[in-house]
Amino acid sequence: LFIVHITPELASVAKVGGLADVVFGLSRELAIRGNHVEIILPMYATLRHDQIFEMHEVYKDLWVPWYDGAIHCTVFFGFVHGRKCFFIEPHSPENFFNRGSIYGFKDDVLRYAFFSRAAMEFLWKAGKHPDVIHVHDWQTALVPVFLYEFYQPLGMTHPRVCLTIHNFAHQGVTGVEILHATGLHRPERFFNQDRMADNTYPKALNLLKAGIVYSNFITTVSPRYAFETKDQGQGFGLEPTLHTHQMKYGGVVNGIDYDIWNPEVDHQIPVRYSVESIDGKYDNKRALRHRLMLADNEKPIVAFIGRLDPQKGLDLVRHAIFYTLERGAQFVLLGSSPDERINGDFWGLKRMLNDSPDCHLEIGFDEDLSHLIYAGADMMLVPSRFEPCGLTQLIALRYGTVPVVREVGGLADTVFDKDYSHRPLHERNGYVFRDFDNAGLESALGRAIACYHNHPEHFRDLMKNGMRSDYSWNTPGQDYLNIYDYIREG
Ligand code: ADP
Ligand code: GLC
Repeated sequence: LFIVHITPELASVAKVGGLADVVFGLSRELAIRGNHVEIILPMYATLRHDQIFEMHEVYKDLWVPWYDGAIHCTVFFGFVHGRKCFFIEPHSPENFFNRGSIYGFKDDVLRYAFFSRAAMEFLWKAGKHPDVIHVHDWQTALVPVFLYEFYQPLGMTHPRVCLTIHNFAHQGVTGVEILHATGLHRPERFFNQDRMADNTYPKALNLLKAGIVYSNFITTVSPRYAFETKDQGQGFGLEPTLHTHQMKYGGVVNGIDYDIWNPEVDHQIPVRYSVESIDGKYDNKRALRHRLMLADNEKPIVAFIGRLDPQKGLDLVRHAIFYTLERGAQFVLLGSSPDERINGDFWGLKRMLNDSPDCHLEIGFDEDLSHLIYAGADMMLVPSRFEPCGLTQLIALRYGTVPVVREVGGLADTVFDKDYSHRPLHERNGYVFRDFDNAGLESALGRAIACYHNHPEHFRDLMKNGMRSDYSWNTPGQDYLNIYDYIREG
């Protein structure tokens, strides 16, 4: 199959969160299985050019219709770890992508509406007829609308569209003017409850909803989150739309790219190890302590890595820091937020804990350090309010770092409690709690720390169970191919 991903993020050239890892890992798996895969991204000013090879201009004059005229774009091509990537650069006064960060601007909706239109215009002009166009989140959700309204009538009848929703909290809700910008000139056709009008604010337009209505298939990133969004009120207003389109909606748990996230081959950690040489993990633990200037003692290290977003359960993270120290363990946090107030709160906490030799908060984005933390920590805390899939627990499992998670979304689908799971013993791989409060958190984290101290052999079994489990792209890669086949037949 010829598959094109149109995406706002790709690891590690343009990464904000897990979406970037997913496009990277899934596209590789699809290519290994003999498919032709291409990726289209905006030409961000912040792209990591050291990760792009043989970058060169391939299309000089792409004119993308915009309002009543057109914007001149250049398209570049380069390889990102063997993946074929096209980067679209618009030349317009708005400087859509020539900015200091990927997201966080007032005109984000316009920026990505433009990108979606430009990506489709590029496919058309370049004579590309993919079998499947795979788009991600609200940023590229207009792609199927453009395909159906503009490019199919011109003769681009081949492609089917799969939309993956990584997070229902962001939907691209916007004013109706955007229809005009993108050339969707007949508001009466698009702007109604069956198509693009927001369910909660009927006077606004909802791009993610448009994507659901127009795509041939919609996935989210775990079956539990599919259920929560459609039937448990977690769809941020899109529940009725999901019900209407439930026949083309399902959950596929993300994989992890084991070329990157694997302690047996990871060159970003000082000592490589496997389930057979698990003691190598403790050399990495020493290196982590050394790097973060933590006291060298017998204590376990509890870690948190993630965006500092309310989604991640920041109140519980804060509580966990104090609780961990009180229970005689160490805590390491690596995280940042685009919201400076949230960073400021954590800086305040860092100052307050400054003289603790058992705690380190690193406020920033640091992929290199994240590898050392996955390898060196004993437990990985993921106390999310909601979590579509979550990759940090999956990476942690691979590194023998025992996840302590809330039973929600993809966390519930991938982590099975040591003491209370219905799973057989050899499949239990972590600690799970249900209630989103301090007592809930303590019920799991307390058991994890106690087991580390009192039953080290049981703790080691848990580590090994996690390391042996398969969260590679193998299974989800096949799941997506099945979906592609299904929509191509339909
Ligand atoms: P989300 O997509 O909601 O942010 P995921 O768990 O799916 O959450 O993916 C998060 C990804 O981003 C993981 O690969 C994690 O290691 C990485 N990550 C998050 N925060 C940081 C950070 N501050 N520094 C380095 N990597 C980070
Ligand atoms: C989103 C979700 C996260 C998921 C990631 C990749 O950012 O918050 O749970 O793992 O996308 O699908």
